[in-house]
Amino acid sequence: MAGGHFVSQGGSGNYEGRVTPFVVITCLVAATGGLIFGYDIGISGGVTSMDEFLIKFFPSVYRKEKNLSGDSSQYCKFDSHLLTLFTSSLYIAALIASFFASATTRAFGRKVSMFCGGIIFLCGAVLNGAAMNVTMLIIGRILLGVGIGYANQIRGALNIGFQMAITIGIFLANFVNYGTSKMKENGWRYSLAIAAVPAIIMTVGSVFLPDTPNSLIERGQQEKARAMLEKIRGTENVHEEFQDLLEASETSKQVQHPWKNIRQRKYRPQLVITLLIPFFQQLTGINVIMFYAPVLFKTLGFGDSASLMAAVITGLVNVFATLVSIFTVDKFGRRALFLEGGAQMLICQIAVGSVIASVFGVNGEGTFSKSLGNVTVFLICVYVAAFAWSWGPLGWLVPSEIFPLEIRSAGQSINVSVNMFFTFIIAQIFLTMLCHLKFGLFFFFGGFVLIMTTFIFFFLPETKGVPIEEMNRVWKAHWFWGKYIPGDAVGLGHGKPTSHEV
Ligand code: BGC
Repeated sequence: MAGGHFVSQGGSGNYEGRVTPFVVITCLVAATGGLIFGYDIGISGGVTSMDEFLIKFFPSVYRKEKNLSGDSSQYCKFDSHLLTLFTSSLYIAALIASFFASATTRAFGRKVSMFCGGIIFLCGAVLNGAAMNVTMLIIGRILLGVGIGYANQIRGALNIGFQMAITIGIFLANFVNYGTSKMKENGWRYSLAIAAVPAIIMTVGSVFLPDTPNSLIERGQQEKARAMLEKIRGTENVHEEFQDLLEASETSKQVQHPWKNIRQRKYRPQLVITLLIPFFQQLTGINVIMFYAPVLFKTLGFGDSASLMAAVITGLVNVFATLVSIFTVDKFGRRALFLEGGAQMLICQIAVGSVIASVFGVNGEGTFSKSLGNVTVFLICVYVAAFAWSWGPLGWLVPSEIFPLEIRSAGQSINVSVNMFFTFIIAQIFLTMLCHLKFGLFFFFGGFVLIMTTFIFFFLPETKGVPIEEMNRVWKAHWFWGKYIPGDAVGLGHGKPTSHEV
């Protein structure tokens, strides 16, 4: 099973230890980071599809939706920048906050970062739940975003486990929306305020979160670090591991310029891949479904409750298909999942685009029959499953396993930032794109899926089971990346360039 290690890797690695409460708390707090991220992805679309919410905050969208404004195109019902800002503002705030958060983590440790994240997030949830106007809504979302930027500071946790927590968060949000939509009034307030629950778990958890021995060593507190390691491992027999940690910390001190290092020619494969993978992940179009599924289903003519139910179903598929990835990624490898997932997504996108074209045409006028509506939901589920065992988890896993220490912090930051930036873009422009590109929007994302699948086929070597010290051999052996890797990086020649390199 592919997962993250909460202890430093390297050294002999055969350390004594057991699962102590500290390890459990760390996992719990790391998981709530993913949960709140997922909850916010899933919650906004559901509340936007609730009439009471629209009437209160976006009355012009409500009029369009109910066809009271004379515009009958189904594609443009929800086209409003203010409405999308409600969803997207969170991601731009998270992006900006993550820069401050990593500085905070370096100076004060992740405990302080996670605590700040929890508190800020809590304020956002309260403001959203109590919102009286759009400004309160958007400021609340921005605070949630800042909280998320701070909350995702357990970097070792950005892997498949993180993705699993995200999908559970999205599913819970869909489920909550379905429940609150049945309330007579103020259901949306409950949906938004319930985000406070994981925020409280995170805030309280972070108080008990151990400072990592690593971060204590880096802040010059060796004795404390050793005592902490003993506590975490539940044994006094930590000498060997502690020495390894000291060594690792020395080595990482020599890594002074990760941002400069990553621009070196020999790191070109990692740089390109860490820029493109999160970009492509967002260009699969997944968040069209994750953010706006209920809105999309309403556009297809489903009623309020049926739309939210359909979103619950896609959310559930997302969770279970992620499990498929967890259990197969080390067996079939990353490439197999990427390629199969890409092909499956492409087929579904072409099918969904065609079905919508056949019913709404270019004018956006028409009605879905019940059975065709169900076929569309089924196709969307198959698409979501494909994403959930390929680009979803691998979008976090692959970048995280290709960075050597020298460039690790820069590489991870690029991955997270590019991801947040394009999540913001898609959240902000999707409803406008739907209005203009109509059913063609599904072909647009399908085109990107074709490009990214081709990219994987030619440019991503298999990284399954390759330890980080061996990774250079993989690049060196690659038909394209080989020329960027100097011979001495893989023990060939002695620094002399090979014929490829000159
Ligand atoms: C992506 C999110 C997406 C989620 C869906 C994540 O890997 O980064 O943008 O909403 O998967 O499960």
